[in-house]
Amino acid sequence: MTDAVIPVPAVMADNAYVNNEAYLAMYKHSVEDPDGFWGEVGKRLDWIKPYTKVKNTSYDPHNVSIKWFEDGVLNVSANCVDRHLATKSDQVAIIWEGDNPAESKSITYRELYENVCKFANVLKAHGVKKGDRVTIYLPMIPEAAYAMLACARVGAIHSIVFAGFSPDSLAGRVEDCDSKIILTADEGLRGGRKVPLKTNVDAALEKVSGVTSVIVVKRTGGDVPMTDGRDYFYDAEAAKVSADCPVEPMNAEDPLFILYTSGSTGKPKGVLHTTGGYLVYASMTHQYVFDYHDGDVYWCTADVGWVTGHSYIVYGPLANGATTLMFEGVPNYPSPARCWEVIDKHNVNIFYTAPTAIRALMGAGDEHVTKTSRKSLKLLGSVGEPINPEAWMWYYNVVGEKRCPIVDTWWQTETGGILITPLPGATILKPGSATRPFFGVEPAIVDAEGGILEGATEGNLVITTSWPGQMRTIYGDHERFVQTYFTTYKGYYFTGDGCRRDADGYYWITGRVDDVINVSGHRMGTAEVESALVAHPKVSEAAVVGYPHDLKGQGIYCYVTLMDGEEPTDDLKKELRNWVRSEIGPIASPDLIQFAPGLPKTRSGKIMRRILRKIAEDEFGSLGDTSTLADPGVVNDLIDNRQNRK
Ligand code: PRX
Repeated sequence: MTDAVIPVPAVMADNAYVNNEAYLAMYKHSVEDPDGFWGEVGKRLDWIKPYTKVKNTSYDPHNVSIKWFEDGVLNVSANCVDRHLATKSDQVAIIWEGDNPAESKSITYRELYENVCKFANVLKAHGVKKGDRVTIYLPMIPEAAYAMLACARVGAIHSIVFAGFSPDSLAGRVEDCDSKIILTADEGLRGGRKVPLKTNVDAALEKVSGVTSVIVVKRTGGDVPMTDGRDYFYDAEAAKVSADCPVEPMNAEDPLFILYTSGSTGKPKGVLHTTGGYLVYASMTHQYVFDYHDGDVYWCTADVGWVTGHSYIVYGPLANGATTLMFEGVPNYPSPARCWEVIDKHNVNIFYTAPTAIRALMGAGDEHVTKTSRKSLKLLGSVGEPINPEAWMWYYNVVGEKRCPIVDTWWQTETGGILITPLPGATILKPGSATRPFFGVEPAIVDAEGGILEGATEGNLVITTSWPGQMRTIYGDHERFVQTYFTTYKGYYFTGDGCRRDADGYYWITGRVDDVINVSGHRMGTAEVESALVAHPKVSEAAVVGYPHDLKGQGIYCYVTLMDGEEPTDDLKKELRNWVRSEIGPIASPDLIQFAPGLPKTRSGKIMRRILRKIAEDEFGSLGDTSTLADPGVVNDLIDNRQNRK
């Protein structure tokens, strides 16, 4: 069967930054002469001291080292704010749309400057210096962007913890990077419900020491306990400081932020991104992938707690002097028409969201979409997980009325920015394919031994050489960085994703090939959910796998073995669900739990997840070789008892 194709609309090919010819020529230049290509592109930023070196990278597992623009000096906050003041001080930088549809406001570049400077001066007043780590646990309010840019301004490294994470998850992340300061709010507001952020911080701080200041932004005005000498309201602190703050000159390779993400083993890793290469890459991809032109209103629905929010709500758009919309709420509140109403309210031209939201809104019915105009829309985007062709077609036909190309952007927390994607003026689209590599990106598909496969093929996705936005290390654990990404297939960056390439050279991401699952576009290590489960006193063992889920993409399937004498009841399932939610956060809530008297293990005691995955997918016919199991009978029991899962 040939794949459906959607041609490039003539108006896009004519008006976009690049058409197909230009893409091919620029791509060729970028991979044949990375120094020349990126040396030019780097000039899109303002440098305090220009770089003379461009690319200096090695994927040799004995010496993994990634440096870009290494002798350049710049400041991210100056690039995202100050440099736009001369021409755009009255242009809106951030449109903020509240959870409540009656609440929204616009922040100009001038106001952004003042707010960022104030926040930076508050940080300084609390002793924050270059290189210090600052944990941000804020909801989607403009202060989250001010806080990020304020850290960048003074040279501090921010670590944003998604406001949906539990006190335990927050504590682990504060401890790992040794932050002395946490920026939070009294309460968050999502879908009409309050999120007790300050209370969560208090609970986290019972588990870690060393935090000397907690700065609390008033969002709801809710009554929250304040600890004398440690907790401060932001408004009172901001009233004491000036609205000007000089920027700290930063080396291109000085850290900008840490962002924790799940891997296949162990605790979440602190992905570290640096200053120059990251901003060059985030801003360039934002301009070309979304074909952003001055005056466009751009909306990415992600949360700043994830990398998409970092690169494509804050850093990329603001570096480009764009108008970026920041949304506090959720797509189905107060009704499933919310996104489309917001698009009409603010005349949004570019809309970027996740397949899980598209599927949910598709399920809610076309009438919520068709009752709105959406005439302002010219481009749609998708990110975070594979998009099924059915959802793609609905997004294209119903939301975009066959007028708006869809950019299905593949990338990761580690990559800093988009690596595989259509460009709207250049790329013929195929629903479900992320299509072709961005400039400078050299993907390859390898077999299990690391041999590069040519032509139309399927295997594991690696990237063979560095791009400027790549992560530089895992904070505090360079060895784990090397082990995780550069030893599986020597000489290449291993993405952890499986991938198919078709005869046209288009890439189709098939999903993770490691023990990471993707639940509603949120990345989760099965090991994290397992360790939360076994921390429960009634649980002796647990194994967690993903299974196909209509809305979430993947659901969380837990096989749980109880301690001797414990009863496998429905109440206990409920208790375990709540337990995982409170240990990690609601996003890790198990979808299905199956009590299992035993788990399939090899004679050396290793759990055979391959078999558990097949049972979770109801694919008993293809269980593969079970003869190496210590007790092959366990498998039949799991199959027989799968009816008990819920
Ligand atoms: O499996 C891929 C999937 O999300 C993973 C990265 O997750 P995270 O670091 O949380 O970043 C998400 C936002 C960039 C990838 O390894 N993924 C992301 N985008 C796509 C995707 N899978 C298929 N198609 C995509 N467009």
